[in-house]
Amino acid sequence: MNKVYINASADYVGQDVTIEGWVTHYRSSGKIHFIVVRDGTGVIQCVVKSPDALLEGVNNWSELSQETAVQVRGHLHADKRAPIGVELEVESLKVISLSDNYPIAPKEHGVDFLMDHRHLWIRSPRQAAILRIRAAIIHATRQFLDDNGFIVADPPVITPAAAEGSTTLFPIDYFDDRAYLSQSGQLYMEALAMALGRVYSFGPTFRAEKSKTRRHLMEFWMVEPEMAFCEFEENLMWQEQLVSYIVQYVLETRHNELQTIERDITRLQQVKPPFPRITYNEALERLRSVGFDLKWGEDMGAPHETALAEMFDRPVFVTHFPVSLKAFYMQPDPQNPELALAADMLAPEGYGEIIGGSQRIHDLALLEERIRQHHLDPAVYSWYIDLRRYGSVPHSGFGMGLERVVAWICGLDHVRETIPFARTLNRLWP
Ligand code: 4AD
Ligand code: MG
Repeated sequence: MNKVYINASADYVGQDVTIEGWVTHYRSSGKIHFIVVRDGTGVIQCVVKSPDALLEGVNNWSELSQETAVQVRGHLHADKRAPIGVELEVESLKVISLSDNYPIAPKEHGVDFLMDHRHLWIRSPRQAAILRIRAAIIHATRQFLDDNGFIVADPPVITPAAAEGSTTLFPIDYFDDRAYLSQSGQLYMEALAMALGRVYSFGPTFRAEKSKTRRHLMEFWMVEPEMAFCEFEENLMWQEQLVSYIVQYVLETRHNELQTIERDITRLQQVKPPFPRITYNEALERLRSVGFDLKWGEDMGAPHETALAEMFDRPVFVTHFPVSLKAFYMQPDPQNPELALAADMLAPEGYGEIIGGSQRIHDLALLEERIRQHHLDPAVYSWYIDLRRYGSVPHSGFGMGLERVVAWICGLDHVRETIPFARTLNRLWP
């Protein structure tokens, strides 16, 4: 007998099949029993009409409690009323393992309760759909970069120094030394770009950010492309191509999941290049015109990013930030060295920054000066400085935060639902 996944069951209408999964609901109306089963790919209603249907493992159909694991054999019928268009008429059902008092009932629970039971919460249709969309985003990212000649190359996770400021480092003991969990692989990606041309990494990064917001995690996944012989404008072009590709891929391949989570996709359909670009100075003017009083040299916070992003129908780049706001490695604008050749990509609908990127300093003397100005220890960065000694070239790259992208594409209120097991300011469990 054919073993089928629920999301493929429509292809087997009229056939006898086996479905393996977990019971989400049981109800009966007299002699007919309705058992809703999920298998990770979808949800199907199984109907027991015949008194001859076999039940193995328990005595009564009503003992099929929520999350009991089952193997169901039966006949697939087309059914217009069913959400997936098919229904399984049960010939036999075997209990693989009973579930006793499953704590997450199909009713409202508080967020803390759900996060404490995250190991089970991920089974709910909504959470599973989000994780399936996350997987599609990861796939699209890798596919786009692999197909465009980027070589995946992994930087270390255990590092001797900060890449993005020393205030958000997680220290660890490294035998007799002190080491840190990586905040960004960028510095290593720069070395790899000089070896391989176009490269990217995709791995976990860590920030001890004492911020309890809906978009900060202590552990998050970042995609970091880095390109040799690439200047500022080309860097933006890669970013808008990548993000558009991801969004269109998700729309094409995760239609059902987007429906499960009730995402309004009309805004996503507009995500096509080119994305608008505004400078930091223009951003300040636009913000002033809607009542924000941000002074030159001040950083934008979440409310500013939200207000700016709302002015456009697709993601927008904010470019040319004051050098003082950005990291030590950013190339100054040749027209105005007060400004960095840096850009943040802000997602619409209130999601704010999803990408940070820049052209990097390739001049040896300038990099050494910046390291001094930022009170960083040149000895710690000596290998990085070395890259400017042996055929240094203009190069650029960016970092895209996966969870921010998942939150935006799924239209979620909080990044805690975008990653299987979130690490937030006060949560290290489960
Ligand atoms: O803007 P950031 O700090 O840039 C860098 O780390 C660069 N070194 C990247 C590069 O050029 N290779 O971080 C990049 C992105 C942000 O735009 C955001 O999407 C995400 O990483 N991010 C976080 N996501 C979740 N929680 C946090 N605490 C995050 N911090 C940054
Ligand atoms: Mg940033």
